[in-house]
Amino acid sequence: MNPLVITIDGPAAAGKSTTARAVAQYLGCLYLDSGAMYRAFGLKVDRLGGPSLLDDRARVAALARDTTIGFTGPRDHPALVLDGVPLGDEIRTPRVSDMASRVAAIPEVRARMVDLQRAIAAQESLVAEGRDMGTVLFPAAAVKVFLVASVEERARRRQKELAARGDTQPLAEVRAEIEARDRRDRERNIAPLVPAADATVVDTSGMTVDEQIQAVLEAVATRVRPG
Ligand code: DC
Repeated sequence: MNPLVITIDGPAAAGKSTTARAVAQYLGCLYLDSGAMYRAFGLKVDRLGGPSLLDDRARVAALARDTTIGFTGPRDHPALVLDGVPLGDEIRTPRVSDMASRVAAIPEVRARMVDLQRAIAAQESLVAEGRDMGTVLFPAAAVKVFLVASVEERARRRQKELAARGDTQPLAEVRAEIEARDRRDRERNIAPLVPAADATVVDTSGMTVDEQIQAVLEAVATRVRPG
């Protein structure tokens, strides 16, 4: 049987990670967090030179070619590894979110991430989460979901996540960061954030996590017919 591929794309803090991980666990699939890979590379660039390093496109392109990012551990909850070194919550800060979105607009960086993602995904059933999973990486995926939610709700969710890690941020700042990142992700020339033509769009505003998971599982049940 062909591997089952489910893609979950959408803007920042729309509920993708929680939902994708739970669906992967339920179906026994691999969970691919493509955003974590852009975050890992964003962190690397930040450590090596900060945002100004992005002006040196040739250097960033060479760095991308030399970077290895992968996952290790449980299939539904894998740990991120950057150049052989495991990473944790340091990729989840607002600064790294911003760097991730900036590096993600650079074609050479995307080319490297796409190669790494294809290698991870090879012949596996998986739930892949990100911005271009249904449009670029897996255009033939059996199930494509595009999660959206109001920016107010997304900012509240992200603020709560940050607070749970001890990072208290004013709501207005979290909202501004999300809006700036969404704009950049939507307006970039390469692999912009856009729903695939055949994606099921789910508005998670006002939904509980369980309802989000159910909505994706319903999309799976509708699209994947036995036999
Ligand atoms: O999903 P996330 O918030 O962890 O992603 C961080 C950034 O990485 C996001 O602002 C844009 C970029 N990204 C991307 O361009 N393509 C992907 N498939 C996943 C993430």
